[in-house]
Amino acid sequence: MTRERDGYVIRAGRPSDASELAALHASVQLQWATGGKPHPGIAAWVEGLLTGHPSVAPDDFLVAVDLATGRPVASLVGLRQDWSVAGVRLPVAQVELVGTAPEHRGNRLTERLFAALHERYASRGVAVQVIEGIPYFYRRLGYDYALASGGAPTVPATELPATGQGRPDDPSDGLMLRPATAADAGVLADIDRRLADGDALVCPRDAVVWRYEIAGRRQADLARRIVAVLTRGAEVCGYLVHGARLDAAGELAVFAAACRRTADWPQAAVVMHAHLARVGQGYGSAAGRPFVAVRRALDHDHPLARLGPPGVPRRPRGWYVRTGDPIDLLARLAPLLRARWRAADLRWHEAGLTIDMYGRAARLMFTDGELTAVTATRGTVSPTTDPATHAAIPPGALLQLALGNRTLPEVLDAWPDCFLRDRLTEHVLTAAFPRVPVRVWPRN
Ligand SMILES: CC(C)(COP(=O)(O)OP(=O)(O)OC[C@H]1O[C@@H](n2cnc3c(N)ncnc32)[C@H](O)[C@@H]1OP(=O)(O)O)[C@@H](O)C(=O)NCCC(=O)NCCS
Repeated sequence: MTRERDGYVIRAGRPSDASELAALHASVQLQWATGGKPHPGIAAWVEGLLTGHPSVAPDDFLVAVDLATGRPVASLVGLRQDWSVAGVRLPVAQVELVGTAPEHRGNRLTERLFAALHERYASRGVAVQVIEGIPYFYRRLGYDYALASGGAPTVPATELPATGQGRPDDPSDGLMLRPATAADAGVLADIDRRLADGDALVCPRDAVVWRYEIAGRRQADLARRIVAVLTRGAEVCGYLVHGARLDAAGELAVFAAACRRTADWPQAAVVMHAHLARVGQGYGSAAGRPFVAVRRALDHDHPLARLGPPGVPRRPRGWYVRTGDPIDLLARLAPLLRARWRAADLRWHEAGLTIDMYGRAARLMFTDGELTAVTATRGTVSPTTDPATHAAIPPGALLQLALGNRTLPEVLDAWPDCFLRDRLTEHVLTAAFPRVPVRVWPRN
C-alpha cells in the first residue's frame, strides 16, 4: 500500500518501526500532561503494540514517511477486535495513536492515513471503525457520535463503603477480591463468553488477551490496567478492572466489572466499592496526593453503578463511529433482528422490506414471516414517494439505530428526512432497534 504525493508515502507499519513510532508518539500525544516532554507511558504502549501484543500486528499501523528523510512523520493504528451483542459478532477497529510530527502538520497526512485505513477495512470486511478523541475533528473524516461512553456517576472517596469483610453485619456473602494471576485467564475468558450472549454491547477477551492484560504489559504502558478477581471460596465469580494509578484529578477509574451470576451483584457491588476505596487510598498515599473519587467509566445502568453509592451525575461521552457500508452492517446484524422480532412475536407478511438510504437500499428478505437475508440494491430517486419503499433512513441515522444508540422515535424526531411508509413498518422497525447498553472495555 503506497501512494506518493507531495513528498510523502503512506505504507503499512513494520516491526522495524517500533522505536521510531514509539518516539514519534511519545513526543506528540498527551503533551499537556508532560509539559512538552516525551510521554513514557505512550512510548511503552506503542512498543508493546508493535512487539508481542496478542491481537495487534505491525501491519495494523499505517505510517506516513517523509521521502526526503525516509523517516515516519505521522501514523495511526487500527486495533482490530470483535465486539458482541446477543451472541452476534461485530468486527470493529478502534483507531488510536493518531499523530503527526509538528513540522509536518497541515499536509493532510491525517486525512490520507484515514483514507488508506478506510480502504483497507472495506476490503477486509471490518464493518465498523471507532475512535475517541478531539471533539468535532473526526466528523470531518466521516465519523459521527454513535455510541455512548461512560455516564455512570462518579463516587467521591467519602461516599465509599469502609469495608465489607469482618463486620458483624458483613454484607459480602463470602465474596472477596484478590489480584488476578495469569492462571485466572481461562475463567475470565469464560465469563466474557457468557457476557457476549447478553443484551449489552461488549468486547469479550479470550484467555490469551486476558493473560496479556494481567501479566504481559510493560510496567509503564499507559493502557495497563489492574485486574482483580471476585471469588467465593475457590470459585471465581467475576472480575473488576481499574486504573494502575490515580489520574490527574486524583480519581481512580474503573474500566470493567462483571459477575458470572446476576444474583451476586448486590453483594459484589459493596465488596467492589470497598476494594476500590482501599486501592484508591493506597495509590494516594504512595503518590503523596489525595484520593478524590472513583470514576466509573461504565454506563449509568451498569449493575456496579446501579447498586453502588449514588455519587455525582456525569454526562456520558461519545465514541465516534463510522461504517463504510451500512447495508453490510445490517446484514451482519440479521440474526439479531430475527431474534428480536421472534421475541416480540412479530412476522413480516411481504416477501421483502426495503429500507432506502438515499443512494443505496437494503432489501430485507423474508420467508414465512422470518428474516432470511439482507441484500444491497440501488435506491430510488425519490424514496419518500416510491410505493415499493417501506422506509427512507439516512445512512447516519441507520448507524445510530443499528448500534442501539438512538431508538426509532428519537431518529424520527431528529431526522426530518427519515420516513416510514406506514404504522406497521414503524412498529416492526421499532422492535428491531431497541437501545443497547454499551459495556465495552476496548482491547488496546
Ligand atoms: C491532530 C493531528 C493528528 C492533525 O494532524 P495533521 O496531519 O496536521 O492533520 P491534517 O493535515 O490532515 O488536517 C489538518 C486540519 O486539522 C486541524 N487540526 C489539527 N489539529 C487539531 C486539533 N487539535 N483540534 C482541531 N483541529 C485540528 C487543522 O486546523 C487543519 O484544519 P484545516 O483543514 O481547516 O486547515 C496533529 O495536530 C497532532 O498530531 N496533534 C497532537 C496529537 C493529537 O492530538 N492526536 C489526536 C488524538 S485523538
